[in-house]
Amino acid sequence: MKLEWEQSVAVDPGLRSLMQAAADAAALREGLQREAAAHVRLCSDKEIHEINAAYRGVDRATDVLSFPTVSYPEGKTAGQCQALLRESYDDELNACFLGDIVISVEHIYAQAREYGHSPEREAAYLLTHGLCHLFGYDHMEDADKTRMRKMEESILESIGQARDGGAVSDEALLELAREARKRSYSPYSHYAVGAALLCADGRVFQGCNIENASFGLTNCAERTALFKAVSEGASEFTAVAIASEGSAPWPCGACRQVLNEFAPGIRVLVTWNGQVAEAPLSELLPHGFGPKDLQ
Ligand code: THU
Repeated sequence: MKLEWEQSVAVDPGLRSLMQAAADAAALREGLQREAAAHVRLCSDKEIHEINAAYRGVDRATDVLSFPTVSYPEGKTAGQCQALLRESYDDELNACFLGDIVISVEHIYAQAREYGHSPEREAAYLLTHGLCHLFGYDHMEDADKTRMRKMEESILESIGQARDGGAVSDEALLELAREARKRSYSPYSHYAVGAALLCADGRVFQGCNIENASFGLTNCAERTALFKAVSEGASEFTAVAIASEGSAPWPCGACRQVLNEFAPGIRVLVTWNGQVAEAPLSELLPHGFGPKDLQ
């Protein structure tokens, strides 16, 4: 998802990268078929106070404000209104423009302290909340509120920021692998694979298999996920979920070896045709050769 940033208060770059991850996860969770965009303004309490007073008649500062451009039919959200979204397509942005979000940087830091979590998590939460409003969710009635909270939780969970700080569940990890599979590039084998790799710090990296007309250059889903993770600074992994259809997608020999480099004890979960199976990597690669042998 494209986020157009406007910033009058400086923030740590890590804040914005987790917010971008939240936005990408939100677009995926909502099932948006086209690229979407939003304008995000990070500002002071004084500025958000002025905006709140001018546009909503509320004379105080707040944490987040959202101004959707699309008005969705009663009870519907963006994912169910793809045709309506096309009407908000912006040629310059090359994306469907969904609206504006304003976030107070002072509130990000104050609320993170209050709730005892990181400013990154608070920033990702506030952006997620704003985006859900741009997608047409609201929290006026109890049923709507439950639906919105569920969506927010699933977005935050998929970026390793679940509210309770708890680990991503196996079912959520398997679902992320199934979702990654949709992005498989496999025009030669037609065997689409998705993977979701859970890091010890709670982050999840997804990957799909990416084939090549020069067949030997194909990259498996598991290695795509692992290489993405390592290049983003992750190095400890607790579980990997792999999804396919037709047969159980146990990792190939090359992927077992590459996983063994970083996580010899990792749990490997596979899912196919609605079935699930699990084995530790140590069982899939007995007597594995790894860094320990070179010391
Ligand atoms: N594949 C994976 O993505 N992971 C594995 O562990 C086994 C194989 C992919 C590679 C190729 O695109 C297709 O499945 C058929 O070999």
